[in-house]
Amino acid sequence: SGRVTVRDIAKAKERGHRWAMLTAYDAMTAAAFDEAGIPVILVGDTMGNNHLGYDSTVPVSLDEIALLAAAVVRGTERALVIGDLPFGSYQQGSEQALQSALRLVKEAGVGAVKLEGGERSAPQISAIVSAGIPVMGHVGLTPQSVNAFGGYRVQGRGDTAARQLLQDARAVQDAGAFGVVLEAVPGELASQVTDSLDIPTIGIGAGPECDAQVLVWTDALGVTPGRLPRFVKQYAEVRQTMVEAARAYAEEVADGAFPAPEHVYR
Ligand code: KIV
Ligand code: NA
Repeated sequence: SGRVTVRDIAKAKERGHRWAMLTAYDAMTAAAFDEAGIPVILVGDTMGNNHLGYDSTVPVSLDEIALLAAAVVRGTERALVIGDLPFGSYQQGSEQALQSALRLVKEAGVGAVKLEGGERSAPQISAIVSAGIPVMGHVGLTPQSVNAFGGYRVQGRGDTAARQLLQDARAVQDAGAFGVVLEAVPGELASQVTDSLDIPTIGIGAGPECDAQVLVWTDALGVTPGRLPRFVKQYAEVRQTMVEAARAYAEEVADGAFPAPEHVYR
């Protein structure tokens, strides 16, 4: 058997098979998604918000991605594991980008890397691909540029922005990427991009016509507190389950119900 490969991903588009990607930041969570048959797991820089307690993805370091990506690789047998290149690990140019990608492959054992940006990141994509490392692109809303965007909002609205997004997606493909994330893009435009590319589009807030979908696992399973973006569907309420379980445990310890005789060594 072995792991899912970028060839399998290419075949899925040819055959019109849709697939689902989830993020993961630790071995046990990744193992559960692997058991569920999720073919591609992204060790995203959303670990900044969801695992490390930062308030954006901007502070995440390559060391942090490498540490958690290694855990996800160890926790899985079948999924293709993609390591996100964090902000500051590829912006200086192709050489820096290749060095960062090599670290994630050699230290963490990821099968591919992902980085943000269209035309502006094409040289970096091309350099990494030339070294034999598969790259996934990411266009539309690119959260590492939140300070330039002035917030998180839908991208590609209006003719000029739509044309630029198409160009960016095509630049990612031409640079040799095996897929491209479309984040927060109107459904109709995402559909147009999907039709015009040979590589699969992986949508998040980009409608149903993408070749694949991706969600942040803590959003999809209901761990993230508070109000979620429109594009998220919650498939479970894990946070509520955790709160209730922790509360029950604390109560049973306080009132002496736990440990019961069956939990005691004789
Ligand atoms: O870091 C991440 O989780 C991502 C996905 C939202 C695509 O880049
Ligand atoms: Na990311």
